[in-house]
Amino acid sequence: MAQAREPEPVVDERSIEVHWREEDTYQPRPEFIAQANLTDPDFYRRFSLDNFPDCYDEYARLLDWDKYWHTTLDASNPPFYKWFVGGRLNASYNCVDRHRVKDPNKTAIHFVPEPEDEPILHVTYQDLWIRVNEFAALLREFAGVKPGDRVTIHMPMVAELPVAMLACARLGAMHSVVFGGFSAKACADRMVDAGSNILITMDAYWRNGQLLDHKAKADDTVKEAAAHGLTVDKVLIWQRYPGRYSSQVPLVEGRDFIVNDLLPRYRGARVEPVSMPAEAPLFLMYTSGSTGKPKAVQHSTGGYLAYVTATARYYLDIKPEDVYWCMADIGWITGHSYIVYGPLSNGTSTVVYEGVPTYPDPGRPWRIAEELGVTIFHTSPTAIRQLRKAGPDVPRRYNHKFKLMVTVGEPIEPDVWRWYYHEVGKGQAVIVDTWWQTETGGFLCTQAPALMKMKPGSAGPGVLGINPVVFDEDGREIEPGSGQAGYLCIRNPWPGMMQTIWGDPDRFIKTYFAKFNKNPNSKDWRDWPYMAGDGAVIAEDGYVRILGRLDDVINVAGHRLGTKEIENAALQVPEVAEAAVVAAHDEIKGTVPDLYVALHPGVEPSDDIKKRVSDMVSEVIGKIARPRAVHIVPDLPKTRSGKIMRRILAAISDGREDVGDVTTLANPEVVEAIRQQVQGG
Ligand code: PRX
Repeated sequence: MAQAREPEPVVDERSIEVHWREEDTYQPRPEFIAQANLTDPDFYRRFSLDNFPDCYDEYARLLDWDKYWHTTLDASNPPFYKWFVGGRLNASYNCVDRHRVKDPNKTAIHFVPEPEDEPILHVTYQDLWIRVNEFAALLREFAGVKPGDRVTIHMPMVAELPVAMLACARLGAMHSVVFGGFSAKACADRMVDAGSNILITMDAYWRNGQLLDHKAKADDTVKEAAAHGLTVDKVLIWQRYPGRYSSQVPLVEGRDFIVNDLLPRYRGARVEPVSMPAEAPLFLMYTSGSTGKPKAVQHSTGGYLAYVTATARYYLDIKPEDVYWCMADIGWITGHSYIVYGPLSNGTSTVVYEGVPTYPDPGRPWRIAEELGVTIFHTSPTAIRQLRKAGPDVPRRYNHKFKLMVTVGEPIEPDVWRWYYHEVGKGQAVIVDTWWQTETGGFLCTQAPALMKMKPGSAGPGVLGINPVVFDEDGREIEPGSGQAGYLCIRNPWPGMMQTIWGDPDRFIKTYFAKFNKNPNSKDWRDWPYMAGDGAVIAEDGYVRILGRLDDVINVAGHRLGTKEIENAALQVPEVAEAAVVAAHDEIKGTVPDLYVALHPGVEPSDDIKKRVSDMVSEVIGKIARPRAVHIVPDLPKTRSGKIMRRILAAISDGREDVGDVTTLANPEVVEAIRQQVQGG
């Protein structure tokens, strides 16, 4: 045992190791540069801090406004900002009506069903306009939806999902889309928090060759919400196969309504888009936080839409003639910003694919890309690893041709990047590694595709108008090129930035600003850098390399899950006394949750308990959080102040023999016992 130290040692869980070397870089091809949207280097000068915030007028001008703004940024009450104040607009008008007038027969959405023998549905801008109008009429007349209401949408990846979102936007109501794979409990928690009385769902959908009964989740959601005091007035159910009900569970009289039966009443209905103030909230999107209670990130109408429209145009290089496919789920922010709002606002064709990328085989994405002539392809490192593992040579058998590819959601290993570049992109497509978050609305760091080199494993420098900086624990700036890691922050506000956490402005300040704000009374935005919660290193050339989360959130397959949320779920198994979840390294998913639990005294460990813990986590949060392993251990390693040392457990899960310094633990002896149990030997 190490000799006693005074005072109580601070255990630093945050010290970050940096192991990598600089990678060789790649240049965009002349063919790409010749056609790109962002080729003028002067753009970056126009968006320098000297021209902040007025530079962002250029973004807002990409939209159609009912009334122009008089003030670009009202920063009088930081960190609560108002963009394009005085302006009025409607998001559904910008994503649908204005393109439908110019080019009604152009495809807005290609819906690709998972079963390969079902035809692809091509929804034109004219069709989309009709559908959005009719569904908006239904929401307004039948469900009484008004501006400012919150409408929860728990749907799979089908064309009706963007229709539902855009119908809410048309009415000035906020949508709160809950990822379709999330459980009824997760959906209910979010409805209760948002005070949302309307649930839009679908009866069933295809996933991995199975038609899943989704309506069953709606019943449990309503029950669970009622237990927390929220009455869900209406459940609106789309049919996966219009005219046929594909769920086994009966409809509840007076509460459940089949959308496809109601729609004929609204045939030909037209709903004038409600002209909303630029700063009116457009939607809520829940994301994991460290307290275990999911928080709703609130995004604005004008600032958000301007930001995603412009970043899609300049960094995805989207043009109306492109066919753009992002494989993310619309239930996450990537889908909101870069399947629905960004692409549609630019008048392009966006692909909505129902199923999993490797179904029925890993050639599926390339067949879809070939058939639809996809030019821009957007996915996550997890999907890339999965496709590589399932068939490293498969992409070269197909004749798809991408001009640009995106990676997002987690750090990508340079080796995986190179496979993506050479095999999927055939050495022709530019790759943008885009770093951002639910909270940021759109991209913050990536290279300008035609202007800058690509560097495997690094997101680029800050995008137009974004000024990244890395601080050390004490708020001192770490110089780019020093090789040192720290907290990644953004110096300035930007239009796509979240407005607040719904119903909890204090948590907004505490989570994203408090740590590096030196004067809470300051009214100068320069005193309020945005803290992203990620660790990062900035290279000499300004390229940002992300190390991952520094707070109590783990990133599983590109999805951010709260450690507390997972641990709380485990604690619902009565035998469990304590739980700690760690992110373990996984070849495919990047990181996966490994769960360590200690049982109440006198309870014998058993496989049954392990199974119940695992089931509970997937029931409470969703399958995505299901632990890779549940380890029942005699005790969890803790500091003397009682803090569980996840760092040590993570080292054990990763198979490392050296688990680091254990001298500061209250119970160091337990570490070796756990290591032997998990790693054997
Ligand atoms: O840790 C970063 C990681 O994903 C987190 C944000 O997750 P979420 O809000 O769910 O949004 C995901 C889609 C934007 C970040 O804090 N992350 C996101 N993009 C990257 C990334 N890590 C490394 N490289 C990226 N390109």
